[in-house]
Amino acid sequence: MEQQDLMGQVAIVTGSGKGLGWAIAERLAKDGANIVIVEIDRQSGEEKAIAIQRMGREALAIQTDVCKWPDVENMVNKTMAKFKQVDILINNTGIMGPYHPVMEYPEDIWDKVIAVHLKGTFLCCKCVLPIMKDQKSGKVVNMGSVAGKEGNANMSPYATAKAGIIGLTKTLGKEMAPFNVRVNCVSPALIDTDMAREMTPEQRALLTSKIPMGRLGKPEEVAAVVKFLVSDESSFVTGQCYDISGGRSVY
Ligand SMILES: NC(=O)c1ccc[n+]([C@@H]2O[C@H](COP(=O)([O-])OP(=O)(O)OC[C@H]3O[C@@H](n4cnc5c(N)ncnc54)[C@H](O)[C@@H]3O)[C@@H](O)[C@H]2O)c1
Repeated sequence: MEQQDLMGQVAIVTGSGKGLGWAIAERLAKDGANIVIVEIDRQSGEEKAIAIQRMGREALAIQTDVCKWPDVENMVNKTMAKFKQVDILINNTGIMGPYHPVMEYPEDIWDKVIAVHLKGTFLCCKCVLPIMKDQKSGKVVNMGSVAGKEGNANMSPYATAKAGIIGLTKTLGKEMAPFNVRVNCVSPALIDTDMAREMTPEQRALLTSKIPMGRLGKPEEVAAVVKFLVSDESSFVTGQCYDISGGRSVY
C-alpha cells in the first residue's frame, strides 16, 4: 500500500540503476521521498533520475563507485549541496561474482566482491552517519542476504560479505541508537532481478528449491519491507536483520 509519509525526506539509494535498488528508490519516491540515485553505471543512473522526476519528486544521479572513498565523499557532498539533508541511506550495491569453491577462488575477485558489498556499505555509512548524527535523525537499511546466514556453496565472498553486513548492521544499531539514527538490514532469498537471471539454470533451480513458498521473491516485496524499516512504523526497531525469504531462513 502506497503512502505519502516520506514527503520531503531525502533518500540515498546505492546501486539503484536497476534491480532491487531501483525498486526501493521507486517505492520511496512513490511514498514522497526525493531520491539520490548512486550508480557506477552513469547511463542507467541518469535514466532512473529522470524517471523519479517524472513521478513529481526531486532526483539527482551521481556516478559513484561505492568502493572508492573519494567517489563516496563527492556523492555525499553533491547530495548535501542540493538537498541540505540526508534522511535515508539504502546500501544496496552488490555483485555476485563467479562460482568457485574456496580452494579455487581467485584472490583478486574475492577482494572485489567483498569490497562492493562490505567496503561500499562501510564507506557510505562512514560518510553519511555524521550528517544523520548532527540532524539527530536518520534511517539506514543495508542489503544482506540469506547467503550471509546460511552460506551458499561456491559463493564464498558473496556469503562472507553478507554475513559481514549483518554484523556491521548490528554494531551500528548499537553505536547510533543514542543519536536517534536507526540501522537495520534485510536478508532476501532469491529475488527476480538480473542477478538471479545471470545464474546458471542449475544454480537458480537449487536456490529456488530451498524456498518453501516455491517461488522467487519480487523486487517490490523487498522494497515494501525496506519502506517499513525507514518509516515511523518501525520507530523502536534498530540493529535488526529482516528476512524476506519465503520461509527459507529459520532464524
Ligand atoms: N537478486 C537477488 O536474488 C538478491 C538476493 C539477496 C540479496 N541481493 C542483494 O541485493 C542487492 C541488489 O541486487 P540486484 O539483484 O538488484 O543486483 P543487480 O545486479 O540487478 O543490480 C546491482 C546494481 O548495483 C550497481 N553496482 C555494482 N557495483 C557498484 C559499485 N561499485 N558502485 C555503485 N554501484 C554499483 C550495478 O551497476 C547495478 O545497477 C545486492 O547487494 C545483492 O547482493 C539480491
